Amino acid sequence: MAPTLRTISTVGREAFLFSALGFHTELSIVAMAFENSFESTPEMEKFLCQRLLDRSQPIAERFRALFSLRNLRGPGPREALLLATKDSSNLLAHEAAFALGQMQDLEAVPTLVEILKDHSLHPIVRHEAAEALGAIGFEGIVPLLENTLALDPAVEVKETCELALRRIREKKNAGNEDGQCHVETSPFLSVDPALPASLSSSVEQLREVLLCEEEGMYERYSALFALRNRGDGPAVGAIIDSLSGKSALLRHEVAYVLGQLQNKAASAALSQILRNANEHPMVRHEAAEALGSIADSESVALLKEFTMDPEPIVSQSCEVALSMLEFERSGKSFEYLFLQTPQVQ
Ligand SMILES: [Fe+2]
Ligand SMILES: [Fe+2]
Repeated sequence: MAPTLRTISTVGREAFLFSALGFHTELSIVAMAFENSFESTPEMEKFLCQRLLDRSQPIAERFRALFSLRNLRGPGPREALLLATKDSSNLLAHEAAFALGQMQDLEAVPTLVEILKDHSLHPIVRHEAAEALGAIGFEGIVPLLENTLALDPAVEVKETCELALRRIREKKNAGNEDGQCHVETSPFLSVDPALPASLSSSVEQLREVLLCEEEGMYERYSALFALRNRGDGPAVGAIIDSLSGKSALLRHEVAYVLGQLQNKAASAALSQILRNANEHPMVRHEAAEALGSIADSESVALLKEFTMDPEPIVSQSCEVALSMLEFERSGKSFEYLFLQTPQVQ
């Protein structure tokens, strides 16, 4: 199975030997896993932070550092990720905002607020900041999200605020009902912007909600995640059909979910999206990543072709996806911290 971009790696409590794949051979370190986060050494942290922020590095190298840092906690990794949200690469900036949301780090809120308010930034970055604020779930953010929902010029940002507000409300209600903390991580290890619709709904019912342009965005997302969690043929078919929906935000999430499912049945539809220069770069980006997860020979050829796309969000997505595949195929981990074959150099 190819790795997916949005999955925060989780491992048990085993120790992993660290080797920086030849970049820092002096750094052979044991990284300990603790509750989805890792204890690292100051040298390793420094190396990862520098690599993330080093604009002279290839984009895939910077992503390797980003994917490693998202498993660490503390001021160093947080600061580096916060700085990365201001990067000139919109792809890297949006991924850093996404990672901070998945980490549900309250300390990231002020920077995410700044990003959301800054209309000069690309909507993909502002969208991810809004989604991260929803994932963190801090109630104090509700007035800003309401204001953005009402007044923001970018429809994808408005729609994300609608989801984030609903998510915060749902979380609060769930807490009030039984006083228990509900599990927020999906079977795919992502903190999703909406909870999946009830298990009692049929695939046909879910399909109807997902495809209905009059339905609220939260309901459509909930149907999408419920269909993904089923993952059988008819469910995947319904998900693929929703790629023709009107909302770019929904289409990008659908492409992302198809990447999580890694189902070859989606290859043709995803390829069409990547080829479509008029499609929103946020959707083409998710399509590229999803094709990288599916990784059949046509998808790989297409990713190679689109590393030349004039839109950097698209070309860089293809570069990162190809690099992840290359690591996977050679049996190595894309992330610095998790080598499938621990080795000491
Ligand atoms: Fe997104
Ligand atoms: Fe993304």
